[in-house]
Amino acid sequence: MPLAANLIDQKLVIDASSITKMYKMGDSEFYALSGVDIAIREGELMAIMGPSGSGKSTLMNILGCLDQPTAGTYRLDGTETAKMNEDQLAEIRNKKIGFVFQSFNLLRRTSALDNVAQPLIYAGVHGTERTRRAREALEAVGLGNKLSNHANELSGGQQQRVAIARALVTNPAMILADEPTGNLDSKSGKEILCLFQRLNREKGITIVFVTHDARIGEHCNRVVRIADGLIVGDDSVASPLDSCI
Ligand SMILES: Nc1ncnc2c1ncn2[C@@H]1O[C@H](COP(=O)(O)OP(=O)(O)O)[C@@H](O)[C@H]1O
Ligand SMILES: [Mg+2]
Repeated sequence: MPLAANLIDQKLVIDASSITKMYKMGDSEFYALSGVDIAIREGELMAIMGPSGSGKSTLMNILGCLDQPTAGTYRLDGTETAKMNEDQLAEIRNKKIGFVFQSFNLLRRTSALDNVAQPLIYAGVHGTERTRRAREALEAVGLGNKLSNHANELSGGQQQRVAIARALVTNPAMILADEPTGNLDSKSGKEILCLFQRLNREKGITIVFVTHDARIGEHCNRVVRIADGLIVGDDSVASPLDSCI
């Protein structure tokens, strides 16, 4: 049973079944995903792990509505996404998912506050409300004193905090983080993991890591393993390591 007992009754944020992704290469077909079933409940802190080429990014792009599967069904927070067009996918992405990437993906010569407010512009939130919520999100990640610093004036760990604040600011149903500590030294990496653990524990935010880094898995409540486009393991972690101590 790959699920912590206290989460069994929580609603499904992700409900994906028989997901395949096929790439045509000349005359041949290549299956990057060959029938993936995955359900993720509200409040989980989990890692999808696997070696390079196993299909992690392909799966994350589908779970994140950045790409559509070749076949299968995918419900995100109760909404079936299979028949959605580009605009509808962009809207559901903005509403339901906060993304965190290895390389932070911030606007470098823009203030922390404006970086974090960015998704709220697309969401149609007006100016003063945008500023208020962006400030609140930066305070939640411990950067209340760096609101007007440009991204390129911040350390790597601080930049990733800004990216996490940007992911949080829309109150998404989940955060998808692709190798979030991959560009950080081990001390900053640990601090970022601690922040994710706190957000999960204290605010119940659903967090899904996609990574090949075994250390990240040790800090999660659940580890799903993928190899050659198939799920080959799904385990709950009885006592995850605490990166805050
Ligand atoms: N656009 C594409 N066209 C053809 N093959 C692809 C494409 N994207 C990914 N693949 C292949 O699918 C497999 C899984 O890729 P990926 O999801 O990026 O793996 P991972 O993120 O685990 O390293 C790899 O063999 C990769 O070469
Ligand atoms: Mg990848």
